[in-house]
Amino acid sequence: MQTVVTDSPEEAARCLNEGGVVAFPTETVYGLGAAICHTEAIERIFAAKGRPGDNPLIVHIADPGDLMKVASHVSDDAKKLVLHFFPGPLTLVLKKNSSVPDSVTAGLDTVGVRCPSNSDATAFLKRCRCPVAAPSANVSGRPSSTSWDAVLHDLDGKIDCILKGAPSDIGLESTIVDCSGETPLLLRTGAVTIENLREVVPSIRTADSLRQHEIPKSPGLKYPHYAPEARIVLLGAGERIDADSEQRTSAYIGLSLPVAEQFALVKHCCNIEEYARVLFDFFRLCDSRKISFIYCELPPAEGLGRAVGDRLSRAAAGR
Ligand code: TXA
Ligand code: MG
Repeated sequence: MQTVVTDSPEEAARCLNEGGVVAFPTETVYGLGAAICHTEAIERIFAAKGRPGDNPLIVHIADPGDLMKVASHVSDDAKKLVLHFFPGPLTLVLKKNSSVPDSVTAGLDTVGVRCPSNSDATAFLKRCRCPVAAPSANVSGRPSSTSWDAVLHDLDGKIDCILKGAPSDIGLESTIVDCSGETPLLLRTGAVTIENLREVVPSIRTADSLRQHEIPKSPGLKYPHYAPEARIVLLGAGERIDADSEQRTSAYIGLSLPVAEQFALVKHCCNIEEYARVLFDFFRLCDSRKISFIYCELPPAEGLGRAVGDRLSRAAAGR
């Protein structure tokens, strides 16, 4: 199969409306989309990514007003979150309606819904006749794609089309809040921080506030994530590492200047937003340079730093 790369939202949407699998930019990361009304195309997303069939997909809508195209019930708390954070980097898990096939939700009675704010995403989604199911556009287990060329690297020849846009502004996947139960629960951290969420819905819970048996199984969490080929080594803020020969094939990323000088590759980020934006791209660069160890400084666990820390810990847990 030839993968067409286009900068035309019309062409990309036409391809999707005809049953194609189309990658598109969003402000978080690039998505790999198929129309929820084309079940064969949904299956091709799983095949192209090598994604386990029991890991549900998020559905994307062009406008917050399209929510009831996929949901059957929206709680008052969910309505407040929609009002404040849609369009944007937030996914809400809601009770689904019958238009969402089981292949999208992996048989769950809930659906993750997101309305991206990126203008290319909106131009594309507006022209799609059905809501668009889309996981991140990477091979399963690998770092998410934050640019169209990262998508091409992972999925060339396996998908029909890539809508070419700018690199993703945020660089980390959306925050996910489960609003299908009585009290909203944070399932994944992201650019909409717990501090932001609590300003709107103070009662929102996080997994650490629950006892072990109360933690709902977010189906994707059991799978390895975000891992480059290299081993990830986590460093506390400003932590020193011993300078040894190993570092000749090592890289460093963090907010502090690295304390050892022999790194083959160094990314010193000026702030946490930059750290989030460049992280997955840096992992991919390290792979292309055959780096074997990436030393990653853990940022302070506040605001966007929680999301960066979460992705680093999962990447360090390996594949
Ligand atoms: O920013 C994002 O969210 C990107 C862009 C493309 O929108 N998408 C994304 O999708 O990160 P994905 O599939 O890589 O991650 C979605 C996560 C998975 O861990 C999945 O298990 C979880 O959301 N998820 C999807 N539907 C769910 C549901 N109904 N209940 C609980 N978790 C769900
Ligand atoms: Mg993903």
